[in-house]
Amino acid sequence: MHRPMLAGNWKMHGDRHAIKQWCQALSAHTGLLEAIDWVLLPPALYLEAVRLEASDLPLAYGSQNHSVHSQGAYTGEIAASMVADLGCTYALVGHSERRSLYHETDEMVAEKAAQALQHGLIPIVCVGESWEAHGDGQTEAVVAAQLSPVMAVYEAYPDVPVVIAYEPVWAIGSGKVPAPEAVQSVHAMIRAFCTAALERDELALSILYGGSVRAANAADLFAMPEVNGFLVGGASLDATEFMTIGENILCNKSS
Ligand code: PGA
Repeated sequence: MHRPMLAGNWKMHGDRHAIKQWCQALSAHTGLLEAIDWVLLPPALYLEAVRLEASDLPLAYGSQNHSVHSQGAYTGEIAASMVADLGCTYALVGHSERRSLYHETDEMVAEKAAQALQHGLIPIVCVGESWEAHGDGQTEAVVAAQLSPVMAVYEAYPDVPVVIAYEPVWAIGSGKVPAPEAVQSVHAMIRAFCTAALERDELALSILYGGSVRAANAADLFAMPEVNGFLVGGASLDATEFMTIGENILCNKSS
């Protein structure tokens, strides 16, 4: 069985004080910490604070975004090598807010995944359809188009685990969550697509769900066989809620 992963995407929230308190709250739950792969994705400016606060915790961390370039005159950007230099394990790429607000294309997302892989980071690749595409029955076509350029990048890294986060754009921050069976169906399509494109052991491909995950809905979603964990936005800011998601998903999983 996959080890569950819970990744907290703090977006542009938090500060050093909040990180300290959050890590302290987590540290009280040793058993829970060990049963799940916990990942914190804070604003890049606070990665060093997480590195210091989490040094005694089984907590991995990563960036929310990095440049398509490896270095150079790109004021305000951060390179994947810098993310790796701060001890990060993961690099989030292709979040829908990056795609919609900063016009990141599928090709740019693939270039960012390539930068991450070149520097020893594990990309967490976000995909997901808009409300319109959802209504038009285009979910699978959109997700396949988003995955396609990224798959080509992984070919050169056969030993790196693949982590895909399926986040319907309309579910992010909205309180609307697709039915667990609908999530299962898209995850099964993602697994089939990735498996056809890449030679990976089943356990080396994890598919997370993201979009309005809360303690109250996590268990039902996680009960789906192809849901291997969650990418959590708002609910990850509150350590107690985030840990409760962890507690709730450990309760039942049939496969
Ligand atoms: P949400 O965000 O949990 O607040 O909906 C998820 C995300 O954007 O990754």
